[in-house]
Amino acid sequence: MSERYVVAIDQGTTSTRCIVFDRRGQLVSLAQQEHKQYFPKPGWVEHDAMEIWRNVERLAPRALRQAGIALDQVAAVGIANQRETTVMWDRRTGLPVGRAIIWQDTRTDSLVHELSAQPRAARITDISGLPLATYFSGPRLRWMLDHTPGLRARAERGEVLCGTMETWLIWNLTRGAHVTDVTNASRTMLLDVHTLDWSDDALDFFGIPRAMLPEVRASIGAFGTACEAFPGVRIGAALGDQQAALFGQTCFTPGEAKCTYGTGSFLLLNTGAELVRPEYGLLSTVAYQVAGAPACYALEGSIAITGSLVQWFRDQLELISCAPEIETLARTVADNGGCYIVPAFSGLYAPHWRSEARGVIVGLTSYITKGHLARAVLEASAWQTREVVDAMNANSGLTLKTLKVDGGMTADNLLMQMIADVLDVPVVRPLAVETVSLGAAYAAGLAVGYWPDLDGLRGNWHIAGQWMPAMDPRLRETEYANWQRAVQRTFDWIQ
Ligand code: G3P
Repeated sequence: MSERYVVAIDQGTTSTRCIVFDRRGQLVSLAQQEHKQYFPKPGWVEHDAMEIWRNVERLAPRALRQAGIALDQVAAVGIANQRETTVMWDRRTGLPVGRAIIWQDTRTDSLVHELSAQPRAARITDISGLPLATYFSGPRLRWMLDHTPGLRARAERGEVLCGTMETWLIWNLTRGAHVTDVTNASRTMLLDVHTLDWSDDALDFFGIPRAMLPEVRASIGAFGTACEAFPGVRIGAALGDQQAALFGQTCFTPGEAKCTYGTGSFLLLNTGAELVRPEYGLLSTVAYQVAGAPACYALEGSIAITGSLVQWFRDQLELISCAPEIETLARTVADNGGCYIVPAFSGLYAPHWRSEARGVIVGLTSYITKGHLARAVLEASAWQTREVVDAMNANSGLTLKTLKVDGGMTADNLLMQMIADVLDVPVVRPLAVETVSLGAAYAAGLAVGYWPDLDGLRGNWHIAGQWMPAMDPRLRETEYANWQRAVQRTFDWIQ
């Protein structure tokens, strides 16, 4: 019998990938396609959901062809996706109603302020495990319903459906299954994270008709059989991409944590079957759920802008021509020259949750070169990680001993050293850095018995790089204090 494989669809913020993995968790082939980012107004960010689906249709055969395998050799498909990005479509035609509004979009800022002032707001935070913020899907759905004539009535009649990106892809893959998984549902503010069902209180609070919502399922289980893109193949798993990365890093035990450095950065700590009450600006989220078993939860520290700052430095300031050049440029100087950049482009997420904050560059003098700016860009990722780790330690009562990292930015060795320095703990990078897709593949493979259990997967994790802290402790504290003063400026700037 011919060898079998698992395919992951990683639907991210900037691109979509189809990746084929073998039984050892090794990447066999990767097909990737970027999609257009729409910025119609300051703070608005949108995607064309149909473009994304068409990309999946094109990437699926390409990934199989590159791997030299046939469809009947695919044991299962798993989906990992950018979370909180929200799309609506017509149930009958399957066509999107407007563009998808993505997680970085801040158009719901004033709505969120208005809702926060309501006495019920604190209860919604208790139910959903999330602070009321523009980041999540609930306010976004409300905004869409309020701003499209006739949409609410159609949604109430069940003629218009909504979902996050895995729901949209599964709808198209299966030609009509309207489902989500618990990890993605836990990012909407509409899910009761205790019961794992949509909360009537939250639906009422945001004014969202239940008829438009997908059915909530366990992340590892059954999402139907694909009719399109991978016809005949079972969709075994769906997870938010950050939860998928936690899974791909094999952080299956409470106390294990990872941080993924992509457009933003997301540090997740496995808290097991216990839903830890979030404090210090963290949020509680579902890490994964195997069908028929209790959910596993996580505490999360979400940072909106890390890799996006490097993109901005490349595309808007044009100071480098490709992202890896930032390391070379930053190495031309010994330190930041007194300059700090706080990238509050979408406000600040954890631990501050100030959507109205705006970015600042402080400490400019005529001494500052583009090398210093490059260093400040990288340091911004490191200090934001430190803020989140401090919050995580305080909230969990545990002290992080080592940080597992992954994602595109972890190829930057200078950044890895900076993170070890500012956290004062070792930073480790696994051999397989495609942890998002690996996690989705692991989850789908487990669902269909391709891999027998979690323990077998741990054996696939191998260390590729380790950075030890080497910063003078007094310098660390002075620099951290400077960073915190710079963060304060992002609030001072609010009009
Ligand atoms: O919560 C947003 C996150 O899921 C986005 O991840 O990797 O697509 O930027 P990424």
